[in-house]
Amino acid sequence: MERTTCLIGGPAEIQSYRDLPLDELAERTAAAKRRLGDRVIVLGHNYQRDEVIRHADVEGDSLKLSQIAAERSSHEYIVFCGVHFMAETADILSKTGQAVILPDLAAGCSMADMAQIEQVDQAWEQLGRILPVEETVTPVVYVNSAADLKAFCGEHGGITCTSSNARQVIEWAWQRREKILFFPDEHLGRNTANKMGIPREDLLVWDPFQPNGGHSREAIKKARLLLWKGFCSVHQMFQPAHVRYFKEKHPGITIVVHPECHEDVVNLADLSGSTEFIIKTVSAAAPGTVWGVGTELNLVNRLKHRQPDKHVYFLSPTVCQCSTMFRIDAPHLCWAMENLAEGHVVNRISVPDDDKRWARIALQRMLDVS
Ligand code: 13P
Ligand code: SF4
Repeated sequence: MERTTCLIGGPAEIQSYRDLPLDELAERTAAAKRRLGDRVIVLGHNYQRDEVIRHADVEGDSLKLSQIAAERSSHEYIVFCGVHFMAETADILSKTGQAVILPDLAAGCSMADMAQIEQVDQAWEQLGRILPVEETVTPVVYVNSAADLKAFCGEHGGITCTSSNARQVIEWAWQRREKILFFPDEHLGRNTANKMGIPREDLLVWDPFQPNGGHSREAIKKARLLLWKGFCSVHQMFQPAHVRYFKEKHPGITIVVHPECHEDVVNLADLSGSTEFIIKTVSAAAPGTVWGVGTELNLVNRLKHRQPDKHVYFLSPTVCQCSTMFRIDAPHLCWAMENLAEGHVVNRISVPDDDKRWARIALQRMLDVS
């Protein structure tokens, strides 16, 4: 797939922004934003740093930000403070004439990289040798994926999902065909199936590096939910021991985690859900309540500061920020905004038309069931 040129670490002129103090960067970014007025909207994913999120017009999870990108047609520029797949989604859902900007093109997602279109094509072909794949399998792709995978789903009767709507999407898919190929996150698929009470024997893990995903023809024919062997490098680091530690140390604590965590963690936790669910749940809780939160560190630290009447703990001593989300920082944002204010569109994310057409179909199916 064609992409805009990816300059790892950003162009050379970023260096001069890196030398500026945070206060000055904040003032200059705000000034550029004022100059642009309604021509720009800044979207910030919940994992972004404070120095970035302070400039966001809307903060949210993947679903909320996709919905905003689809609805707000009046802004010429959508500056997406998040990762590459999110900016691609915004480009797919936005209207002609709108430009989506990702302040640092190196902000990717390691999970999204775990499923490549060649591997998915191959899996589809292998499944096609075992069963009538187009009639029996619905491809479901987590939005944490490249645009060509979303296009694959659109073209093959499939759909996208986020951590907010995985259950509705899986139900939608099973109403149409008997099996689902769910990629790239094994854990979101498995945790959703667990919540739905799906028996373990209905699930199978598809290893893209093994012939037929590592399974016999009989096992594939029997399974109903084929889970791609992919994971989030941040969320896989939360361990059941972290949950047990906080439960012992703070009796009465409520543990809430993201469904990208391993099922052993999710099953021990009290609640699980998207980043927006986590924020809303803790924000709505009674003063004095105690929370252990298993998701990205920036989100948890902000929650802690914004909810001073509650006790909020980060669930793990070893998990760090999402290193790719972290690439969007005050210097990159200021650089992108000042260029826009000067009429230079930098770091534009532009999905090729062919992929866009089919990917939009898969995303629209999801928005319709959400
Ligand atoms: P949300 O859709 O829950 O915000 O999750 C996005 C993500 O990348 C989690 O790692
Ligand atoms: Fe990707 Fe994990 Fe980072 Fe989310 S937290 S953007 S899934 S690497």
